[in-house]
Amino acid sequence: MTVHVVADTVTKLSTLRAMLARQHAVTSELLGGASNGCSESDAVVVTADLRVVENIAALKEVFGKLSHVRKRIFLVDQKARLFTVQAYALGATRVLINPVNQADLLAQLADSTVCETGSIDALHGANEAATAGSIAIGSMFSAVLSGKPIEVRHAKDAGSRIADNIAENGLSSWLETVRRHHEGTYQHCLLVTGIAADFGLSLGLAKPDIERLYSAAMFHDIGKAKIPLAVLDKPGRLDAQERALIETHPAAGYEVLKGNSGISFEILDAVRHHHEYLDGSGYPDALCAAGISDIVRILTISDIFAALIEHRHYKPTMPREQAYEIIRSMEGKLERALVAAFREVALNR
Ligand SMILES: [Fe+2]
Ligand SMILES: [Fe+2]
Repeated sequence: MTVHVVADTVTKLSTLRAMLARQHAVTSELLGGASNGCSESDAVVVTADLRVVENIAALKEVFGKLSHVRKRIFLVDQKARLFTVQAYALGATRVLINPVNQADLLAQLADSTVCETGSIDALHGANEAATAGSIAIGSMFSAVLSGKPIEVRHAKDAGSRIADNIAENGLSSWLETVRRHHEGTYQHCLLVTGIAADFGLSLGLAKPDIERLYSAAMFHDIGKAKIPLAVLDKPGRLDAQERALIETHPAAGYEVLKGNSGISFEILDAVRHHHEYLDGSGYPDALCAAGISDIVRILTISDIFAALIEHRHYKPTMPREQAYEIIRSMEGKLERALVAAFREVALNR
């Protein structure tokens, strides 16, 4: 594999080169300096201080040239949430915290295999749409953390690209690309957006409704920017206190977005209520059936399915059939007719 290394100092550049050179062909680039070639790279590894404005500008330029590279690993200097979301906003597909050990970095690179299924064109299109989506989600999270306005247009455009890609290439290549190349909340939001768009298409919804659906999906978990990563990405079961904290995210998302002129009432409603159930057992408002709109009902099913089939490094990925059975078993909580219609999306599309 050819790995392109980008760093903001000569020392960092040579340390990374030394880590990788035994197993990979390495090209390198000093930020703001010369590049010794990167057009054929299979992966990019970046290490730079993201507090430096010039570094951010230079990285945007670098990634303008490297958008076709599927694996983009960022090494950031502190376990601060803002650096991580900035890395994703710049186009990272994985973020590791310095000091990174060689084995971890090589393992991340080894994971960069080409998918066996689907046509190359479909996967390439899915990869580009996923990158645009991930950058938009990273930018939103970064804006929430730094108290800046959220670029609604950017996120909606990325949602539209995802919906177009799915209409053209189907859901399966989307799920495969996103699960292979994205992680955590980014992976989740990209999966929900794709599944919701495909569910809307399969239901034959009108274009404005599909737009509402994929936009709501892009924004639905924005409140998670307020939840500490230690809780958000905790492997295994959460205790009662952690669960209570996670359950604040729909109302937190609502607070972040309300008053934003680019966000419609329907989207705001979906962000606040995507964890409500028809039997009143959901949160944050314990709504019953009459209070839950169609868009929210569709989004909730898409959200649960996406969470079940997510790829996590610490557990095997659940097959789509098993995830659908779990949704089917949630009798009384989800609309039965929609669950039946979702079968085609879950299993065949
Ligand atoms: Fe959520
Ligand atoms: Fe979610």
